[in-house]
Amino acid sequence: MGRKKRLPGLTVKDGYMRHPFDVEHKVETSGLVSGRHLRVGHVHDKHNTAYYGIAPSVLIELCARWRASRLVVPPEDYTFVDFGAGMGRAMLLASRMPFREVIGVELHPDLAATAQRNIDKWVAAGRARCPMRVVCQDALEFAYPKNPCVAYLFNPFREPVLKSLVRRMEKSFAGRPGQLDVLYANDEFREVLWGNPRWERVWGGEIALSAEDDQADMDILNNQPDGEYAATKEEPCSIFRFIGPSRRK
Ligand SMILES: C[S@@+](CC[C@H](N)C(=O)[O-])C[C@H]1O[C@@H](n2cnc3c(N)ncnc32)[C@H](O)[C@@H]1O
Repeated sequence: MGRKKRLPGLTVKDGYMRHPFDVEHKVETSGLVSGRHLRVGHVHDKHNTAYYGIAPSVLIELCARWRASRLVVPPEDYTFVDFGAGMGRAMLLASRMPFREVIGVELHPDLAATAQRNIDKWVAAGRARCPMRVVCQDALEFAYPKNPCVAYLFNPFREPVLKSLVRRMEKSFAGRPGQLDVLYANDEFREVLWGNPRWERVWGGEIALSAEDDQADMDILNNQPDGEYAATKEEPCSIFRFIGPSRRK
């Protein structure tokens, strides 16, 4: 049997470089796959931005800022849900933090399968502090747990899907203000939440990439065959809290 063809953006000829995180932990989360190569026949395909793993330094700082905000319960009682989990880099990082559970939701089956392999290695190496799982489905199909949740987004899809996701969140958490927070990295469509009276922006700003992450970004982004994406030294991020209609001004 021949080897399965890798997605464009995951081969050396496409500028593929391994991030030091992958080298250190023997996992596979590197690469850059444009959204147009991630079609699976779903109505939301056209809104898929790309696959790209988060800079570890950005996620760690974003979560630290979230933990420093006024949480309704201790962090270990929240479920961390990565909408658009890709190969699971953010999930692996989050599982080292005190969460109740880490769940990844990924539309593309190849990426979800890679995330599962990474999780298996990670758990076997004893690195996960909490249970973790990935589901291969559209973000809008996800059924939320009954406990407080952190929904993490690394700009996975464009405005139409984000708007629908936010509507679904509001429905799922109706009557439970404060129990859902959104951590939005590379928050290109932040206005969807910012201009919405049911949500409070708890924090917003630029998070600087570590020198290692910045170098890894340059290595891969300077080698893109079609130069589609730009490297930046900071990631614009927001933290939003669902406050519900009761506090509407
Ligand atoms: C920028 S990557 C983020 C990867 C990961 N969250 C991280 O931080 O390392 C965005 C991912 O979202 C996925 N995605 C896009 N639209 C989706 C949808 N409607 N439902 C679930 N996943 C989706 C893409 O396939 C891609 O893997």
